[in-house]
Amino acid sequence: MNAPIVSFNHVGKSFDVDGFELEAIREFNLEVAEGEFVAIVGASGCGKSTLLRLLVGLDTQFRGEIQVDGRAVSGIGSERGIVFQEHRLFPWLTVAQNIGLGLVNEALTEAERNRRVSDFIELVGLTDFTRAYPHQLSGGMAQRVAIARGLVASPRILLLDEPFGALDALTRQQMQDELLAIRARARITTVLVTHDVEEAIFLADRVVVMEPRPGRIKQVVDIALPHPRQRSSFEFHQLREELLHELISDDHYQPPVREQIRDLPLAFIAC
Ligand SMILES: Nc1ncnc2c1ncn2[C@@H]1O[C@H](COP(=O)(O)OP(=O)(O)OP(=O)(O)O)[C@@H](O)[C@H]1O
Ligand SMILES: [Mg+2]
Repeated sequence: MNAPIVSFNHVGKSFDVDGFELEAIREFNLEVAEGEFVAIVGASGCGKSTLLRLLVGLDTQFRGEIQVDGRAVSGIGSERGIVFQEHRLFPWLTVAQNIGLGLVNEALTEAERNRRVSDFIELVGLTDFTRAYPHQLSGGMAQRVAIARGLVASPRILLLDEPFGALDALTRQQMQDELLAIRARARITTVLVTHDVEEAIFLADRVVVMEPRPGRIKQVVDIALPHPRQRSSFEFHQLREELLHELISDDHYQPPVREQIRDLPLAFIAC
């Protein structure tokens, strides 16, 4: 592996909940190489969002050490971009202004800033909504604005927390393809949290399977399939089975409602 750009060393995190200690993460160790794509999957509550918040520097109260480029993380930095699980757009700002917030720390002329913003609006397919406000967008459109905001400053490390969860299946696949295209151009190191095992296999070089209470690594699976990956291939299915087996053999695993419905017998859905 190349020198790691990100390393988690013995990371632990606890929260105080009503006077009791809730251990959210225990002994998390992971190195991510420059340009690598790592996906994290695991049951709800196993600490995936917490890990991303620690890596982006929004929470500095934790055990162990997280390093980026060999330096300990002690706060946020423009080389790390994040797309949160909820879109977190500002309701009083337009689509373009919300995306422009991703550039506040960049030394750009107004013309450069506007060009970058409109490039990313086009990328996420919202050219007709440049001046719309968040309440005028669907959930999926709002999430696309958040994705554009996370990418617009060309971060070296992109952290994505269920970024495509609110999108319909077709848009979701288009955004996955776009993400791979952006990465092919800019070689961004990416850490993606997803509930969708197929999405993890389609995109990632490695998949980290976590188990909850406390959140810790259960297994790390290499995805050695060449790109472009075929969702219908035998190897893809084999990896899907392997990962699902890891997740389902976890006593705490609760599949998201979407997967539960998909797995119901058709007759049951029909009645
Ligand atoms: N600010 C907080 N205060 C107290 N407890 C918290 C806080 N944030 C997270 N937790 C707890 O830490 C654990 C991990 O939460 P986290 O949001 O990281 O889970 P997750 O894996 O992202 O889940 P999901 O898949 O549902 O998004 C949970 O038990 C949660 O209740
Ligand atoms: Mg989460």
